[in-house]
Amino acid sequence: MSNPSILILPGDGIGPEVMAQVTRIIDWFGDKRDLKFDVETDLVGGAAYDKHGVPLSDETMARAMEVDAVLLGAVGGPKYDNLDFSVKPERGLLRLRKEMDLFSNLRPAQCFDALADFSSLKKDIVSGLDIMIVRELTSGVYFGEPRGIHKEGNERVGVNTQRYTESEIARVARSAFELARKRSNKVCSMEKANVMESGILWRDVVQEIHDAEYPDVELSHMYADNGAMQLVRAPKQFDVIVTDNLFGDVLSDCAAMLTGSLGMLPSASLGLPNAEGRPKALYEPVHGSAPDITGQGKANPIACILSFAMALRYSFDEGEEATRLEKAVEKVLADGVRTADLMGPDGGTPVSTTEMGDVILAALDASL
Ligand code: IPM
Ligand code: MG
Repeated sequence: MSNPSILILPGDGIGPEVMAQVTRIIDWFGDKRDLKFDVETDLVGGAAYDKHGVPLSDETMARAMEVDAVLLGAVGGPKYDNLDFSVKPERGLLRLRKEMDLFSNLRPAQCFDALADFSSLKKDIVSGLDIMIVRELTSGVYFGEPRGIHKEGNERVGVNTQRYTESEIARVARSAFELARKRSNKVCSMEKANVMESGILWRDVVQEIHDAEYPDVELSHMYADNGAMQLVRAPKQFDVIVTDNLFGDVLSDCAAMLTGSLGMLPSASLGLPNAEGRPKALYEPVHGSAPDITGQGKANPIACILSFAMALRYSFDEGEEATRLEKAVEKVLADGVRTADLMGPDGGTPVSTTEMGDVILAALDASL
């Protein structure tokens, strides 16, 4: 049998820098754990635009459909700000999500003990925090038609459409309930059923799926604005949050900051399982391309490394090895190793991106 395949798309900005550390980690698992992957690397975002004039070539899209998992760094940067909307770097990422049908986006927000002081919230509010945001990723206002900017009389009108079908809501709800069963068995669904019909349908369908298939899971509903408030007031009340594409985008950035730094948060975007039970999957850090620190060796590679840990768990059924990697990260943080984004008020000397990779590899060695 051939090795499982991974397509690496480092992308733009700090993407290539953080991905270089992930490549070292992948090699470590091959050498030390006999977990070998066939890895290929390609372009996405601005990097793909520079070479092909599009943010994702058809060839790369085709490879993404074939491999067992895609790892993506980040897309975008000021250089591409004035490009036509249709070829903006972000369109490459959105095409991957849509064509791979990655409807379930898992964004864990976990506060490492060693970092509880780094959150902008008080330590006792965030320490021990472990929540999972499940964001619908292939529909809603990101993709709804009609969309565009047109002329009405002598002014321009911008239009986007929030649209959800029952089956789109049902499948992401199922994925949230399944996850909850492996965690603390609680789901909170967030929408704006007080003002949006799509929110009313969302609430109904989530409740129906719950009653018919997951009555053992504790379900609550919350308006998304209240949800944002509750996330910063008392985030530990949540276990799994399920929400739509746009609310999920906003709420997950908010949840990310609870953990101290956007540089810590991984994500997994999953589709339906294939015949072997393996879902189409793309893994990426929640942080963006961070043009302000690109090329300076300052970027924190942990979010990208933890995204690979999610790949081990959700694509390759290697939960124990995923835990090994997560524990190695926890260990270096507990030892006080910090990249620049994790410098507290008391200062200290930050390590570089590569040095963070070095210490995580050393912690992996020590785990054997
Ligand atoms: C995210 C990002 C993307 C989104 C952008 C880069 C298109 O903010 O993954 O959260 O809006 O979904
Ligand atoms: Mg976002």
